[in-house]
Amino acid sequence: MIRIGMLTSGGDCQSLNATMRGVAKALYEIYEDVEIVGFEEGYKGLIYADYRIMTPRDFSGILTEGGTILGTSRQPFKQMRIPDENGLDKVESMKQTYKKLRLSCLVVLGGNGSQKTANLLREEGLNVIGLPKTIDNDLWGTDETFGFQSAVEIATSSIDAIHTTAASHGRVFIVEIMGHGAGHLTLHAGIAGGADIVLIPEIPYNIEKIVDALKKRTKAGKRFSIIAVAEGAVAQDEAGLSKKKLQKKRENEPIYPSIAYRIGAQITEMTGQEVRVTVPGHVQRGGSPCPYDRVLSSRLGAAAAEMIRDGKFGVMVSMQGHKVTATPLEEVAGKLKTVDPDGELVRQARLLGISFGD
Ligand code: F6P
Repeated sequence: MIRIGMLTSGGDCQSLNATMRGVAKALYEIYEDVEIVGFEEGYKGLIYADYRIMTPRDFSGILTEGGTILGTSRQPFKQMRIPDENGLDKVESMKQTYKKLRLSCLVVLGGNGSQKTANLLREEGLNVIGLPKTIDNDLWGTDETFGFQSAVEIATSSIDAIHTTAASHGRVFIVEIMGHGAGHLTLHAGIAGGADIVLIPEIPYNIEKIVDALKKRTKAGKRFSIIAVAEGAVAQDEAGLSKKKLQKKRENEPIYPSIAYRIGAQITEMTGQEVRVTVPGHVQRGGSPCPYDRVLSSRLGAAAAEMIRDGKFGVMVSMQGHKVTATPLEEVAGKLKTVDPDGELVRQARLLGISFGD
């Protein structure tokens, strides 16, 4: 009998269940006698041996279900080497759970931080396979992550819905889209939703340039404008500032709930225009995975099972040029895949008349 551990870690997304189903279905197909051990709430379940033995029934009917049947939690990589409040060595504990259960491999569905921990466990001698999850699409070593396209659809439909109201009222609307470190989601949804201005962390903005772009639209007879802004968008004069320096710089400013509100207030102050802010928030991670993600998840999941069969461990299953492949975890760990400010997509967006506020 072969026993495989599985966990979902970090922020959830729409396609976690579809991916686990892909792994499980392929494992049951490949092996006559395989048992899947599901750890509850991510690495927490592995640390505290909180698990359940899964059966094929657990994976039935979950292709279209968002969230994760195993639950998830954020267990920061930075704290993995720090003992818990009872002095428990987390890494040692994870290794012991793995060994006690006689696992042949641990499958980790997770984003950046989770893959770092997966790599740490690899270094500690465990057989680990990662699967690239995140709506941010910012994992190094893969062109795509599951969850991304589903989130693009939701963020785009938010912009679509705002379009009609923006047109009726002739206002400036700002839609704030998830993504602290990378602007893939905002860029894609911005293009798909026909946003006029797209602000992403990789291209620091200048508020004057945003106002210029708005004025240009008004001059051209456009009654409204839509700005898609990433949570992590940053002003040119603040890019690279430490938290302390940023606080000092903003000490005489009101504290805004998020970047969209700050930009909105600045636009109103500088132009007198009415601005409304919409923040779809976690809605972007919810609901059913889109068909594209279901296919992607199924492919990545099945490939993970094949890699287990072939003893190909220490990798993250990834997509490169529409082909499923494997990227070593040590290459993935600690790197972020950000939007290339000089890349094709940004260049084409500019040709479409989109302003990046720079
Ligand atoms: O990494 C996914 C993500 O949704 C980011 O886009 C967002 O910044 C963050 O998670 C939100 O995290 P939380 O769910 O912990 O609020």
